Amino acid sequence: MAAITDEMNSIVETAIAAITGAGNLDELREVKSAHVGDKSPVARANQSLGKMEAAERAEAGKVIGKARGQINEAFAARQGELERERDERVLIEERVDVTLPARRSLPGGLHPLTILTNEISDLFIGMGYRVAEGPELEAEWLNFDSLNIPADHPARTMQDTFFIEPLDSHLVLRTHTSPVQMRTMLNEEPPIYIICPGRTYRSDELDATHTPVFSQVEGLVIDKGITMADLKGTLDHFARSIFGPNVKTRLRSSFFPFTEPSAEVDFFFNGRWVEWGGCGMVNPKVLETAGIDPEVYSGFAFGMGLERTLMVRHGITDMHDIVEGDIRFSQSFGVGSR
Ligand code: DAH
Repeated sequence: MAAITDEMNSIVETAIAAITGAGNLDELREVKSAHVGDKSPVARANQSLGKMEAAERAEAGKVIGKARGQINEAFAARQGELERERDERVLIEERVDVTLPARRSLPGGLHPLTILTNEISDLFIGMGYRVAEGPELEAEWLNFDSLNIPADHPARTMQDTFFIEPLDSHLVLRTHTSPVQMRTMLNEEPPIYIICPGRTYRSDELDATHTPVFSQVEGLVIDKGITMADLKGTLDHFARSIFGPNVKTRLRSSFFPFTEPSAEVDFFFNGRWVEWGGCGMVNPKVLETAGIDPEVYSGFAFGMGLERTLMVRHGITDMHDIVEGDIRFSQSFGVGSR
């Protein structure tokens, strides 16, 4: 019996040395199959019990059982220790610093001019208008002649208009959105109720109040019995919805070749009259050019600058802010369309 006791002591000693020597859970797993598992010396000793005499088996069984108990206990203790170490290490290594500034992904936003354009489009669509479009590269005839702007009109000179080479192409970058009036009248039968927001071009230098690429919104109504009162009422409603319910408008007599009579429209905002745009009753000559009988139909038209509208409404003092595309400017108008 002493022999088996010695043998088991040495097995236990070797096993415990291996178990306590395991530096991490992976090593401990390898130690387990060598010293604790089915093929380990202690397991084999246990299997040998079957071949012993009953009396001897009882004695040896105790010794071997005790040895297994010691090994299992040492294993469980070391495993517990290594697991605690691993958990502590993971907590440190995988620590998340919740005080770090978050990475922000900025949501996209619409340019304030786009927001204003959408707002105006919504307003007129609500009154039964349609949004019409035309090309920015426009036929000189549609931009000028068809609108009763003769060849010697100052607006046509090289100072104002971007002519497209070769000059006999007779193409210009449209100087206003008014050619969309003519395009629509040529293609559709009255009644016509359209607005046309869009980009326009004039050879101005970019400064605090001018930009060579700017935007206008054009309105055109052709129907039976349309009068200047309809124009005034429409402009009043337009101004109130853009600048606030108490805003007043006034018409000052003026001249545009495509309207007769013509007027400038101003609005009263923050204690002063502000020029807004041009308007008038569509010139019968223009109706005739478009093939519309001025004896049957009449109409009004208006056109205003969108940059100016935006600048006045929001107190923007420098055109550069609108055209330069610094997103901080757009962000101050909020995100998305309003
Ligand atoms: N087209 C003119 C411009 O660019 C603005 C304008 C004036 C448009 C009178 C109109 C209008 O429709 O009736 O200066």
